[in-house]
Amino acid sequence: MVSLQKFCKEKMELSKRVPLMLLFGWFLFALHAGSISAERSTYIVHMDTTFMPKALASHHHWYSSIVDSIKPIGSTSSSDGHHSKPILLYTYSNAVHGFSAVLSQDELQAVKRSPGFLSAYSDSLATLDTTHTFEFLSLSSTTGLWPASKYGKDVIVGVIDTGVWPESPSFRDDGMTKIPLKWKGTCEVGQEFNSSLCNSKLIGARSFSKGVIAANPNLGFLTMNSTRDTFGHGTHTSSTVAGNYVEGASFFGYALGTARGVAPRARLAIYKVIWDEGRYASDVLAGIDQAVADGVDIISISMGFSFDPLYRDPIAIASFGAMERGVLVSSSAGNAGLRRRLHNGIPWILTVAAGSIDRWFAGILTLGNGLTVTGWSMFPARAVVENAQLVYNKTISACNSTQQLSIGASYEIIVCDDTWPFNEQITNIAASSFRAGIFISDNPRIFESESFIYPGVVISSTDAREVINYALTAGIEATASIEFQQTFVGTNTAPVVSSYTARGPSPKCPGVLKPDVMAPGTLVLAAWVPNRYAARIGSNMFLASDFNAISGTSMACPHAAGIAALLKGAHPEWSPAAIRSAMMTTANPFDNTQNPIKDNALDFKIATPLAMGAGQVDPNRALDPGLIYDVTPQDYVNLLCSMNFPRNQILTITRSSKNPCLTSSSDLNYPSFIALYTHGAMGILVQKFQRTVTNVGKGPTTYKAEVMAPKGSVVTVSPDKLVFGQMYEKQSYTLTINYSGDENEPVTFGSIIWVEDNGKHRVRSPIVVSPTVELW
Ligand SMILES: *[C@@H]1O[C@H](CO)[C@@H](O)[C@H](O)[C@H]1NC(C)=O
Ligand SMILES: *[C@@H]1O[C@H](CO)[C@@H](O)[C@H](O)[C@H]1NC(C)=O
Ligand SMILES: *[C@@H]1O[C@H](CO)[C@@H](O)[C@H](O)[C@H]1NC(C)=O
Ligand SMILES: *[C@@H]1O[C@H](CO)[C@@H](O)[C@H](O)[C@H]1NC(C)=O
Repeated sequence: MVSLQKFCKEKMELSKRVPLMLLFGWFLFALHAGSISAERSTYIVHMDTTFMPKALASHHHWYSSIVDSIKPIGSTSSSDGHHSKPILLYTYSNAVHGFSAVLSQDELQAVKRSPGFLSAYSDSLATLDTTHTFEFLSLSSTTGLWPASKYGKDVIVGVIDTGVWPESPSFRDDGMTKIPLKWKGTCEVGQEFNSSLCNSKLIGARSFSKGVIAANPNLGFLTMNSTRDTFGHGTHTSSTVAGNYVEGASFFGYALGTARGVAPRARLAIYKVIWDEGRYASDVLAGIDQAVADGVDIISISMGFSFDPLYRDPIAIASFGAMERGVLVSSSAGNAGLRRRLHNGIPWILTVAAGSIDRWFAGILTLGNGLTVTGWSMFPARAVVENAQLVYNKTISACNSTQQLSIGASYEIIVCDDTWPFNEQITNIAASSFRAGIFISDNPRIFESESFIYPGVVISSTDAREVINYALTAGIEATASIEFQQTFVGTNTAPVVSSYTARGPSPKCPGVLKPDVMAPGTLVLAAWVPNRYAARIGSNMFLASDFNAISGTSMACPHAAGIAALLKGAHPEWSPAAIRSAMMTTANPFDNTQNPIKDNALDFKIATPLAMGAGQVDPNRALDPGLIYDVTPQDYVNLLCSMNFPRNQILTITRSSKNPCLTSSSDLNYPSFIALYTHGAMGILVQKFQRTVTNVGKGPTTYKAEVMAPKGSVVTVSPDKLVFGQMYEKQSYTLTINYSGDENEPVTFGSIIWVEDNGKHRVRSPIVVSPTVELW
């Protein structure tokens, strides 16, 4: 028999590994300094607030009194004079209950003895989800999918990131109305940042640096001690969610047009938690906790904590509190590609994968015989390459040696064969006397994120035949011209799942299918900081720009957050789960050629839901999904209770000391299905799911199930017809997967679509049968 992987079963190895790591750290330090008792580091501590003494006025008083009451231990010999006693960094009292503090091991033990103590763990590092950070240039998809509407006007999006460049035209407030009265946030004064930099678009700015400073006690100062962004990531993501209209935006002439965020009238509140000096969980927790207190409706967070289980993952913990207050948290799946698993696979948030855009940045190659080839180029300038002498010479066409290239010194353009990596070839051409290169490649990754540091064009192997043929036939007469800064929209197949997007199942909770949806993430054009370069030419020329095109799930996440903001504006009564359900059940599994979406990491094989979730988000359809799979906070608690976490770990997330586990259920009312099997065993897997859908369409209606079973599975749905008497009525059904597939095709997938009788709504959920996470 194939044994069923328990839903969200926590792997004990994870929790066992931590003490080992601590021990290892301790050992190193012991060798280094000969004493550990005074060594302090930052811990995040979660508390059960029902233990707070009644006499105390606030959580803050309680947490400070706990830290103050610790007798300093071993403080006399602190070598640098810092931290001679425990230091309280943050108190968390909104989405999170607890605090972070700089403590020694002994002091941590004292905290653990305090009444109400739930859990504690070391501060950990976040990963930002931009693949090739600043080297990539392109324009965001501002047409077609995104409704240029008033939606988003009263919605506030909190962006947890590297801060913001407030002077960017994307954060101007032309056309914005009065700030919603519910807003409780502020515009913090700091280095090169004063409150007059906020306006009715950029309504809040705060920064959180106590964690990074505690981790680097000898730092002295921060390069930018305010919410001002010195990295570009936060400026890019926040303008992607809700940037204002900016005409004439482009990446050095490519993708020229009017830039705008997905929700151009939504408000932005920026929480800087990522610093040039580091990125710490304690600061991230503080940012989310404050955003919820300030009254944001949506949170966009393009970073993750890869290896932490749910109860030690700051995003999982803080976003639970956010979800309870009706705040949807959109997060990035991560950029690990096929190599490693996704992060942010958290059941109560939206996890977003990245795909391509239907836009092509071109260099147009014209040969002396009149033949024209549209290739790929993102060379960031108007280079002039006209009637230049062309050579194709087998001896040097690998373009892998600058020395060899000098053989062709009498020519101006060289054709480089597809035998050497493009990056190295263009670097060699840049160091040679050639004026430009023609690179033959069908490698789709070049069109995701490669920089283009020298004039040239990438052409397909099919087009290359004629180009080479011409070069050889025309001999020394051969010439070519290249026209740069060409942009085409709608010509290429899109979306395609990006090679870098991290794949499910989620190690944190494999029984809930992640990612949820896919959004544009490749070569997204959005605002940039002026003090960090946006492009490079050759090895030493760095170009600045107000806009940059970069790739990553970091760029996909704010697209989904923006759509969620629009949905929140249109349906203020919808829960975060309802918004997510609408986005998932209306997502499109087909590309613009009406074929199943392909995967760039798998040689254009059909993408599975483990790569793209339900498919590409479709904002207009999500406005009117027909049916909703809703989830209450208690449902998530029931799920946690099925995971065999110790009680304190569950309370760390749920922050309620009522016995959280009166009921336990691993079967979350999620708009997707995943059945996990253990590899290698023979036999049959049968798994039953229970789902309840709410009719959010008007009036009475009937839906019928249309099932596409994964290969090797029989899927039964009961009942297969749902009759609703009125709006908001709920109906339930069960779906059973009976799998007897073979190991040649480990991951199989299909779908269930509830089709309305009048054909108006199609409510689609992906179904996946996959090996358990451990066996990948
Ligand atoms: C705030 O900063 C801006 C730009 O740096 C400056 O023009 C303005 O005078 C400052 N306002 C205050 C109140 O300091
Ligand atoms: C950062 O600025 C705040 C005030 O804006 C100040 O209290 C703090 O000491 C500064 N921190 C560093 C590390 O420069
Ligand atoms: C360059 O590529 C050719 C063809 O692939 C190969 O034979 C040669 O060894 C390479 N030269 C260098 C310097 O790597
Ligand atoms: C699953 O399918 C197998 C044959 O493929 C069948 O023998 C078995 O009874 C089915 N089990 C259930 C619970 O439907």
